[in-house]
Amino acid sequence: MATRSTIMDTNSFRAEHADALDARTRSLTDRRGQLLGESYRLFYRNPVHLVRGEGQYLWDAAGEKYLDVYNNVASIGHCHPAVIAAVHEQMSQLNTHTRYLHERILDYTADLLTTVPDAINKAMYMCTGSEANDLAIRIAKAWSGGSGIIVTQEAYHGTSELTSGASPALGSGQPLAPTTRLVPPPDRYRVDAPDLGAWWAQEIQKQIDDMAAHGIKFAGLLVDSIFSSDGVLPGPQGFLKPALEVVHANGGIFIADEVQPGFTRTGDSFWGFGRHGIVPDVVTLGKPMGNGIPVSGLLAKANVLAAFSDDIPYFNTFGGNPVSMAAAQAVLQVIREEKLQEHSLKVGGQLRNELALLADRHPSVGDVRGAGLFTGFELVSDRENKTPDKALALDVIERLRAERVLTSVAGPYGNVLKLRPPLAFQVEDIDWLVGSLDKVLTACAVK
Ligand SMILES: Cc1ncc(COP(=O)(O)O)c(C=O)c1O
Repeated sequence: MATRSTIMDTNSFRAEHADALDARTRSLTDRRGQLLGESYRLFYRNPVHLVRGEGQYLWDAAGEKYLDVYNNVASIGHCHPAVIAAVHEQMSQLNTHTRYLHERILDYTADLLTTVPDAINKAMYMCTGSEANDLAIRIAKAWSGGSGIIVTQEAYHGTSELTSGASPALGSGQPLAPTTRLVPPPDRYRVDAPDLGAWWAQEIQKQIDDMAAHGIKFAGLLVDSIFSSDGVLPGPQGFLKPALEVVHANGGIFIADEVQPGFTRTGDSFWGFGRHGIVPDVVTLGKPMGNGIPVSGLLAKANVLAAFSDDIPYFNTFGGNPVSMAAAQAVLQVIREEKLQEHSLKVGGQLRNELALLADRHPSVGDVRGAGLFTGFELVSDRENKTPDKALALDVIERLRAERVLTSVAGPYGNVLKLRPPLAFQVEDIDWLVGSLDKVLTACAVK
């Protein structure tokens, strides 16, 4: 069997770490072991037991305060009062589903559609990013009459049969669908092509040709527009254009998975694809959409969606319910009122400037890249050869935890720190993060 990396297994607690835990933590990990399915992975050798959150901060059961540099779900800030009030108000009144009339879903949709290009003019709602991508794949199949889906080599798109079959990040234990093809990620740091967009479009064409050679009709390209699990690869603005052209020339659809970069995270625009000036056929949304309330969505061009919805009904019991819509509406409002897109651009840029200064002092820092408040911080053992240093990345993550800074790793080699705080992250928080990183990298270097 081909070995693929299992990014979800890195930075995770294992049974052999249990003896070092304090009694309270040990009792919780033991109970999890007894009660929960084994597929769950806990972060850190010494797992964190969180009991409270506010803005960009979290507190553990012992009262210790942490800086959250990882959570993009509580995107506008943990326990944001606007979301709490909206959910409370709607929950106190009514919660039903999409088979009854209700204004909330219509008002929210009208508002949400103002954030995307005019050609994208229909919405559907679910509860998770997996469900959104699952439906997107079904739409791609209905539209194209094909079944072939292309994703990147370390992509993660979800938990369902269709999406896990298009999620190589789940590792070699999870079979990919025979109709899935992988393209290398457009990694500006490691790919030496003068025109990254043209190079990547060629890689996509190669896979479409390979499908044809195997009797598989191409249905679509499904990509996270900031390539989070591939190592956070924002790439130059506009480089996705040739990929879109290749996809259309071959009769498929372009699905922009905005579960990670969406809702102003990348700062330059409201959506990750917006950085590239492209109009995808389908856009899938999730994580930050309800700031913790499980709500996800799919936006599409009406004619593309019609290929599916004219023939097949869709009902998702909780998707689009008034309480979820109230939470999602509050998130949109806060993004505007608190000017979070501008904030993300400004603070993210400042953070990367500071991280770049850190790179001047620590040879183990190979690359610092990102957009808005989404940064990849790549660690290497040899700068010239760009040799990935996964062991160092894991050591850094564990040591940052001791500094009460929470983050994790990404990328095919597990050597990229994924710095993705709630958008509530402030300029004042940069010192805590960068100071801790400086301390930890210095300690690792003299080890
Ligand atoms: C890019 C991307 N797509 C889809 C998903 C699946 O979302 P969910 O866990 O809400 O099903 C994830 C989750 O991590 C993701 O990162």
